[in-house]
Amino acid sequence: AKARAAGAAGAAGAAGAAGAAGAAAGSVAKTEAQEPVVLRSAASRALFSVIRAEGTAPAEFSEHSDRLFGLLVEETLATLPGVVPKTVRTPCGDYDGLAPLPAKDVAVVSIMRAGDGLAEAFRRVLRGVAVGRILIQRDEASVDKRAKLYYSKLPKDIASKKAVVLADPMLATGGSLVRAVGVLLAAGVREDRIVVVNVVSAPEGLATLRRAHPDLRIVTGAVDAKLNEQRYIVPGLGDFGDRYYGTV
Ligand code: URA
Repeated sequence: AKARAAGAAGAAGAAGAAGAAGAAAGSVAKTEAQEPVVLRSAASRALFSVIRAEGTAPAEFSEHSDRLFGLLVEETLATLPGVVPKTVRTPCGDYDGLAPLPAKDVAVVSIMRAGDGLAEAFRRVLRGVAVGRILIQRDEASVDKRAKLYYSKLPKDIASKKAVVLADPMLATGGSLVRAVGVLLAAGVREDRIVVVNVVSAPEGLATLRRAHPDLRIVTGAVDAKLNEQRYIVPGLGDFGDRYYGTV
């Protein structure tokens, strides 16, 4: 999948906002708006250099992950469905900017446990935003080890939100995310209002997710090379949840 780069200029945000406005108006054709947005700033590269390093201890890992979450949160909020261009008057002229969504129009849903820190990062910026949780784990007893839903608690009015952020740091095979998106759709959320946010994506997971749900958006910190035989992302960063919560 061709990815849109974020962080270089306002152009990416403006293109996203234009797409967002179209999506909000109901035109959800397979356009540029559904290409993944990828962080490509020097800031994200520096933070990734710490969290990807295998010798980084949990405290430093979670601190730098939280800082990276900050970049992902801002990029996501600027490209949510429903964000529209807005010109503001500065003391010296006009600035072509964007009108962000208020917290009441957004819901954040984390895939437990790894997505919880990322969901908290959204809560810090979007004060009062409703947060839901989904627990999905691989069913080792099933033949195909399919992703099984164990728990879900969603905001009651989630179907009427203008945007629903689904937070899961590692997009590996895409199995859990496809299952989680199914939970949101069953709750009445429109596919084109869902934004999947993650730290690292594998091409295999991106392809699976986009094939199953072509109209949702994806914001990711990086697209890596591949999955290994254990379905870990290469080069990736290892097990995100274990490193973030210190259960290594
Ligand atoms: N989950 C992780 O935490 N890391 C991977 O590389 C893949 C899935």
